[in-house]
Amino acid sequence: MNSQLREAEQFLLSLNAAWKNLGLYSPTHPASAAAFKNLTIAFEKLLGERERITLGLMHETLVLNGVPLTAKPDLFRTLVTRFRNGEIHGIALLKGCTLEELRHLVELLGQNVKRGELEEELKKRQVSHIHLVQLAQDARKPERQPEPVDERVGAGAIYSRALQTIRKVFQETRLGKVPSLGEVQRTVEDMVGTILKGKHSLMALTMIKSYDEYLFNHSVNVGILSMSLGDVLGLDGAALRELGLGSLLHDVGKINIPEEIIQAPRKLTDEEFEIIKRHPVDGVKILEDMGVRSEIALRVTKEHHIDFDGRGYPRLGPDEQPHPYSMIVHVADTYDAMTTVRSYKEAVDPNPAISRMKKLAGNAFNPLTLDTFVDMLGIYPPGSAVRLTTGEIGVVTRPGSEDVSRPWVRIVQDQEGKTVEGDEVNLMEWNPEAEDYACSIVIALDPVVRRIDVAAVLQGKKLTPAG
Ligand SMILES: [Fe+2]
Ligand SMILES: [Fe+2]
Repeated sequence: MNSQLREAEQFLLSLNAAWKNLGLYSPTHPASAAAFKNLTIAFEKLLGERERITLGLMHETLVLNGVPLTAKPDLFRTLVTRFRNGEIHGIALLKGCTLEELRHLVELLGQNVKRGELEEELKKRQVSHIHLVQLAQDARKPERQPEPVDERVGAGAIYSRALQTIRKVFQETRLGKVPSLGEVQRTVEDMVGTILKGKHSLMALTMIKSYDEYLFNHSVNVGILSMSLGDVLGLDGAALRELGLGSLLHDVGKINIPEEIIQAPRKLTDEEFEIIKRHPVDGVKILEDMGVRSEIALRVTKEHHIDFDGRGYPRLGPDEQPHPYSMIVHVADTYDAMTTVRSYKEAVDPNPAISRMKKLAGNAFNPLTLDTFVDMLGIYPPGSAVRLTTGEIGVVTRPGSEDVSRPWVRIVQDQEGKTVEGDEVNLMEWNPEAEDYACSIVIALDPVVRRIDVAAVLQGKKLTPAG
């Protein structure tokens, strides 16, 4: 067991002990006082250099600082029950939290309070170092070891390299050559390594949409979103690599579709649509020619246009069902296509795109896969433009690790709407004097209407004034 888990366990044991003592003795009784002293020590030890610790419930599992505590469920059962019954998603304990404040928390949890009541009582009792939070739904499994990846290779470099690999695959296929499988595998390997280390920087780059090179950017975006979703769903490294290979190459069969059909700024005729419908099977053939033997990669390429209920194309046999990993790529593919401008349609912003997809849960999409995807993106997916309580406008760069409504935001316009090279701010930042967050999101905005170059912001490029 690593030291963080041991300290987490120690903290929860102390919490349980303090809880029990409070039920038996008065708060001033020496036994209670000793229990709370221990709890304070355990808290300080767990906190270490951090600014806060978060404790919450995710899918019936207690999660501490983003790490699910699955080892000793009995030990944490009372706390899990209290959290569940009180609909308490999570609690953040900030640096500076006193013994007195911990005592208030334990007392209130012992009274089986509901979330609203707990929040109100903490405020009334002037507890300023404990507040309620919503946990992000992408806690990592504690046993997962990140795969080695060159530290110097940032997300931007990984994205560009993936784009280059895909461009080459398409170009060579068009010329009748067989693209190198090894090169694609190396790209996938790097992408998986980056995603296992922290998927958000790469995920943010999927908001870069290219009109001219749509198919290449789309392929890379679908690869990133599929592998990230696969990771959140608990796939191991080997499965992620197979899923990555299939999702990156899922549309390679489109190479056989004439450009005038792909770019047609109108509704397609039935004949034209029949040609489009061939690309999954054509793609499988190209993958096989490249030497791909992975059943998963071949299945997701063939089935990425098949709905959860079996509709879509190509037609499956009467007893066949799409592979669960194909459902991952189906969600990622639809989301990326919806949020991109094409010759025949406008782009839909992330939030409305998700709302539309949610209406199709159970039909087009596996509801669990879609729910997990939505949780992974957060309420404000990276690339969303938002207005802040300070009057400034920013672009979400990565989700908040502890609260889905509090991502990191890069400020791009000041209160007057003037373009600025602003800082990246963490909306989790707490202002102790105001006893509130330093800054919050008021509303999501349309980046196109606001003339914000999201791609430039996410790549850290210099911004041109919004004229
Ligand atoms: Fe496709
Ligand atoms: Fe696609």
